[in-house]
Parts: sequence; C-alpha cells; structure tokens
Amino acid sequence: MAQTQEETFKKIVAHCKEYGFVFPSSEIYDGLGAVYDYGQNGVELKNNIKRYWWDSMTLLHENIVGIDAAIFMHPTTWKASGHVDAFNDPLIDNRDSKKRYRADVLIEDQIAKYDEKIAKEVEKARKRFGDSFDEELFKQTNERVHGHIVKREALHERFAKAMNDNNLDELKQIILDEEIVCPISGTRNWTDVRQFNLMFSTEMGSTADGAMKIYLRPETAQGIFVNFLNVQKTGRMKVPFGIAQIGKAFRNEIVARQFVFRMREFEQMEMQFFVRPGEELKWFEHWKQFRLKWHKALGLGDEKYRFHDHEKLAHYANAATDIEFLMPFGFKEVEGIHSRTNFDLSQHAKYSGKKIEYFDPELNRSYTPYVIETSIGVDRMFLSVMCSSYEEQQLEGGDTRVVLHLPPVLAPVKACIMPLVKKDGLPEKAREIMNELKFDFKVAYDEKDSIGKRYRRQDAVGTPFCITVDHDTLNDGCVTIRHRDSMTQDRVRIEDLHEIIRKATDPKELYRKIVGDSMEDSME
Ligand code: GAP
Repeated sequence: MAQTQEETFKKIVAHCKEYGFVFPSSEIYDGLGAVYDYGQNGVELKNNIKRYWWDSMTLLHENIVGIDAAIFMHPTTWKASGHVDAFNDPLIDNRDSKKRYRADVLIEDQIAKYDEKIAKEVEKARKRFGDSFDEELFKQTNERVHGHIVKREALHERFAKAMNDNNLDELKQIILDEEIVCPISGTRNWTDVRQFNLMFSTEMGSTADGAMKIYLRPETAQGIFVNFLNVQKTGRMKVPFGIAQIGKAFRNEIVARQFVFRMREFEQMEMQFFVRPGEELKWFEHWKQFRLKWHKALGLGDEKYRFHDHEKLAHYANAATDIEFLMPFGFKEVEGIHSRTNFDLSQHAKYSGKKIEYFDPELNRSYTPYVIETSIGVDRMFLSVMCSSYEEQQLEGGDTRVVLHLPPVLAPVKACIMPLVKKDGLPEKAREIMNELKFDFKVAYDEKDSIGKRYRRQDAVGTPFCITVDHDTLNDGCVTIRHRDSMTQDRVRIEDLHEIIRKATDPKELYRKIVGDSMEDSME
C-alpha cells in the first residue's frame, strides 16, 4: 500500500538522524523543543548550501559584498526596527490540554481543510467524467463543492480582515464560530487571544553596573542596515548595491513543528539591495526572477516551486512575495522577497540621530535608499533538499534501496573510494587515489562489508560516485565508477576521475545556468 506523505516525512526525519544529518539538540537530556544539531553529513550539506548562496551573491555580482555582524546588537536597534512593539504572534491556550497554539495557524489549518475537501471532490469527479471534465464548471454547479467554496472564501475574507485590523477578539470569535477543537483534548475550551513577542532576551553586564536588557537577533537584516554607511563608505559602493550576510537568528516560536522547518534557533541567508527611490519595483521583479532561477538550477523539480504574493503587507513594505516549495506537508515558504521601502534606514536615522543617506553623483542629490530584501532560511532550504531527494526504491529482483538524489553540488561526500578486497595491494592503491582527490573534494574511504552493502551506505547519504579499485586496476590503471542515481557503472582511467567529479559537482556549472545570457543584467 502506498504510504501517506506524513509517513514519508517521518521516515525522512528518522533517516536524517540515522545517517548523521540532524540530531535533536542535547538529546541525552531528552532534547530541547524545536532546537536541532547538525551531524557530520548535515553540516557538510548545510555548508554546501551556504557556499552556493554566498558565491551566487558575492561572485556573480560585483556590486554585492558580504558582512558578518554580531548576534547581539544595541537594544535600540529593535525599538527602531519595530520588533519590540510589533514582532508578535497571536496566541491562544486550550484550558483542558494546557496546550498553546497560534490563533492564526489554527484558522489557516481550517482553511486548508476546506481546500482539501474541495480538492478531493474535484479529483473524484475528474476520475468519473474523464476527458470531458470541466473543473471550473464543476466547481460552480456542484452544490456540495460550491458550498465549501463559499464557506472557505467567507472565512478567508473574515480572517484577513481580523489580521489586518489586529483584532484579537475577532480571531477568537472565528475559532469559536468554526468550532475548531484542540487536537489534543478535542475541546473548545479556549482562552482569549493574546499577543506574544517572539524575541528572546537576556542581560548584558553585571547587575551592579546596571545590566542592559538585550535581544538575540530575530533576523540578520538589521545587522546590515546599521552597517549601511560603514560598508558604503569603506567599500566606495555606488547605488544600486547589495550587502549579504549569513548567520543565526532566534525566535521563541509558539508552535514549533515540522522538524527543522520552524525552529527557535535557525540560520538565515539575507541580502539587502539598496536602490534609488522609485526604482524599487523594477528591482523587486529582478530579484524575484534571479532567486527563482537559483532554486531551479539545483534540479529539484521546477513544478515544486511557486510564488505566493503577500495579501497583508507589513506597513513599511510596498511589495512582498514568498518562494514556496512543495514539502511533504504542502507548499511552504522557503524564502521571502520584500520591497521594504526606506523604512529601516529612516528608522535607524531617526533613533540614532545620525544622517543615513547616500549622495548620488549622477542625480547630484542625497536620498535614503530603498531596499529590496531576499531572505532565505538555511534550515528550510536543507529540508526542501532532503525531502525532494529521499526515495525508497524498488529494485529488480525484489531488492530495495534508500537513496538520496541530492544535487551533486550539495552532496556531503562527492565520492567514496573502495578497494574490492582488503588485500593484494588494493587498499594501498585506493588510498593513493583518495589522497590525490582529497585536496579538491570531500571524499570517503570504505573497505568494510560486501561491495553491495557499501554502495547502499553511500546511496543513503547521497554520494554521487563510488569508485572501486580491483585487481585489474593494478595493471591497467582503470577503476570502476558507479553512478548513484542510475546505478550504472563505467570503467575509467584514474587520471580522468578528477574531471568527472569536478564536472558533476562544480557550482560553476549552476552559476552559468543562473546567469545564462543575462550575465550583464545581473552584474548591473
Ligand atoms: N528579514 C526578513 C525576515 O526575517 P521572515 O519571512 O520572517 O523574513 C525569512 O524570515 C526566512 O527565514 C523564511 O522564509 C524562512 O526560510 C526562515 N525562517 C523564519 N523563521 C524561521 C524559523 N522559526 N525556523 C526556520 N526558518 C525560519
């Protein structure tokens, strides 16, 4: 029987642990909610994702430079950015189960239930009517489906208004009217909805000195904004230009679930692109397309991506979209692209009393630049790569294997060198090959168990190539190279190995795909 997406997801989580990709944090003490550690393979995959992102920003664009700002920042930063007053989620408790939920997530799940019902009916009808099926007509004329659509739309409209108006009473009323129950207790015994600030705080300095309350940054972006003048001046940067950064961020998420999708400590890769006022929507479009190309170049499946434009814009944004990826639990946000106007720089100018402007020599005037932000979570990217790569494959002859079809550029180990047997000089020859390759690639050596078992071990961690050294190797200087996805094997010369691995794993091949003919464009 085919397994559900939920079962597949559970297997992926278990696989991540079994093969050294992700472990629960401080597991010997039973773990810590929504905090995870990356293991020996996970950290390599994560580093490869970061390298792919960083180079696509700083190598492909001569006008983008990177920084690495501290996690701790002056507390006024967060007042200016609006996080102290408005970085909140609406929470609600169930009095019986004592469980805490995000009110907006409960309602979004309810909307998703209507969507599921509609999709199920449509699928049933499609099977019944075959080629003559007209989905739109069916939705309009089938009474039951039409009823679901009307209810869904009404709920969606009411919800969007409540969120826009920050109306917490209305959110609670929606939960009551929709008869939403707590998944644990099954009851509707809800408290009122309250705002909950997501920032973690701590104290800096000893209390005798008068300790200062500071925050763990909830996004890396503010480290870029407060350094705008430093970078612009020392780098003699001309608008338009960008500043990129990769680093940890922290949010006290109320509903932490779906593994590394929503964590309390996570990593972001953010780039703020500073442009002339009035040109921001042109650049917003440019960055939307560039970022989508970056994702698609990895070959995880073009159909797994979609844009989701924000209906509710933050008060400082004039355009925003998410790049969503099809996870086993539906299309979910992996990256946000936001046109943030000049809000952040203006706020920091106001709160610091410093003039934060750019003198544009071509226009012969100063202004506060507008900003396009691209913001992607490393952990969500990691999850989308894992989910789309995992496969339980049925092989001929009734055998099965678990294989990770990781993009070779991202694979933790690029090749595993294996002597066919542990004697006759084969291990020495295998080590000799490994010692040549290891300067350029992360390679592994394995001489234990049968060759079939060794192949399976490498399939499970997504190693693109297995290289077997046999007795003939000692005479003809050739090895057998086995390809992970097709499981086909070729006999190749030892001196050709480097180029074969390089060609398959070199990010340059992807960068060419991304910029293609429009190199000029993206270098602007
Ligand atoms: N500076 C803009 C910003 O932080 P965001 O939409 O809140 O925007 C950007 O976050 C990205 O960070 C998201 O698209 C997601 O990939 C990642 N992210 C946000 N919260 C996260 C969490 N709790 N766990 C893992 N990743 C998260």
